[in-house]
Amino acid sequence: MNIIKLNAINSTNDYLKTLSGTQYLENFTVVVAESQTKGKGQMGAKWNTAPGKNLTFSVLIKDLLLGINEIFNLNVAVAVSILQALEKHNVDKLSVKWPNDILAGNKKIGGILIENSIKNSGEIFSVVGIGLNVNQTDFEGLPKASSLAVACGHEFDKTDVLENIVTNLKRNVASLLHKNVDPLWVAYHKNLYKIGVPMPFEKDDKKFMGIIQGVTRSGNLELLLEDDTMAEFKIKELQMLY
Ligand code: BTN
Repeated sequence: MNIIKLNAINSTNDYLKTLSGTQYLENFTVVVAESQTKGKGQMGAKWNTAPGKNLTFSVLIKDLLLGINEIFNLNVAVAVSILQALEKHNVDKLSVKWPNDILAGNKKIGGILIENSIKNSGEIFSVVGIGLNVNQTDFEGLPKASSLAVACGHEFDKTDVLENIVTNLKRNVASLLHKNVDPLWVAYHKNLYKIGVPMPFEKDDKKFMGIIQGVTRSGNLELLLEDDTMAEFKIKELQMLY
């Protein structure tokens, strides 16, 4: 595994994006940092992590030419890779909260931020950023966050966890390249948080109940509404009140 280990960096995603834009890097090159000063989360949020305790890393994925309606396949492959790796470490009650929060029980332990870039040469690449709370045990003021150590009651070897995730990711990206995406979608849906359960949502300041039916191939959430109609929601237009 080609791995670049850093002590501190602004964001492993930004670092890997810049590096791969300017020099040749092997497919699946990993950048991992003990701490980030400007960690980025989904939708412009910050990703804060306890320095030294958790995993913050990014993986370069080259030559994965996904069509515009297939982009979410990579999210699915990444989420499933994390779940498979953590299952191997005997973490239970794992799930993925749409679109790609990793949960243990009903608390978030990890998140995914995928950024796609294009080089001057026209080459397209994806940077898959993963933040995973591993050995942090203090979550004061963060009632919805947790870690592997809290969920399982013991510390984890961060390098083992990282290597396991990357091994699974390589296999699952190979499935994407071979257009063998159905098993990944089955695994994603099998672990989808609150699927089939009435849950509260909000859109345009209106609150309503809906039952998650699944996620469409383009990454939208499908809900059965109280008037028995089905509706699809994009990531940015829906708030989940749970
Ligand atoms: C989320 O909001 O849930 C996504 C969090 C993604 C955080 C990771 S940490 C490594 C990589 N570098 C970043 O700046 N962000 C991602």
